[in-house]
Amino acid sequence: MKSSEAIYREALERLQQLIDEATAQGLDEPHAAALATADGDARPSVRMVYVVAVEEQGLLFFANIESGKGHQLLDNPRAALCFFWRALQVQVTLEGEVSLQSAEIADRYWQRRAREAQLASWASQQGAPAAPKGELRQKARQLEQALGFEAVPRHADWCAFRIRPERIEFWPSGWQRMRERTRYQKDPQGQWTQAALNP
Ligand SMILES: Cc1cc2nc3c(=O)[nH]c(=O)nc-3n(C[C@H](O)[C@H](O)[C@H](O)COP(=O)(O)O)c2cc1C
Repeated sequence: MKSSEAIYREALERLQQLIDEATAQGLDEPHAAALATADGDARPSVRMVYVVAVEEQGLLFFANIESGKGHQLLDNPRAALCFFWRALQVQVTLEGEVSLQSAEIADRYWQRRAREAQLASWASQQGAPAAPKGELRQKARQLEQALGFEAVPRHADWCAFRIRPERIEFWPSGWQRMRERTRYQKDPQGQWTQAALNP
């Protein structure tokens, strides 16, 4: 029988393989997933994010701490993700607890972002009323000129979050192939189990 750790590892590997396959096939947005959060009164919201790493400690994504999702995650640190790659005919859903990550982790990934995206994070306050046309671009250019060849420092509001899955489900959409739907789930004792379900 597979151990709890082996079952959890298998689920993460399956997810990583799908992201790798979507990337290898040149599919649009292979790392993108819908992130659902809810506020302290359980009112839900959903939007897309990029999942930048699938690791044993959980899946990493980035968000502005002052955004709607940032506030919701601080109020209610639970979330769900939904990936779908049409060409691969599979959806992956997962749920779990979310934790704000260290500044070191956020710094590491900030450095991998395109310079344009880094400058844009400084120029625009996410979710604030739209600035007059051209103002954001002008702000970004001013910052760019002030920095010269220096690296753009991370905006303190740009934070790393990690969702630690408690359930991961693979739902194949090829009905004619009748492939297996699989649920990987952590039981109340903290042990991972795996079950095949009807699609
Ligand atoms: C494909 C795609 C990927 C996105 N990735 C991110 C992301 O990684 N982090 C982020 O904060 N917003 C990302 N966004 C923008 C969010 O979907 C959202 O509009 C924005 O963050 C504000 O959300 P909120 O007000 O619900 O917090 C992405 C949008 C798209 C379409």
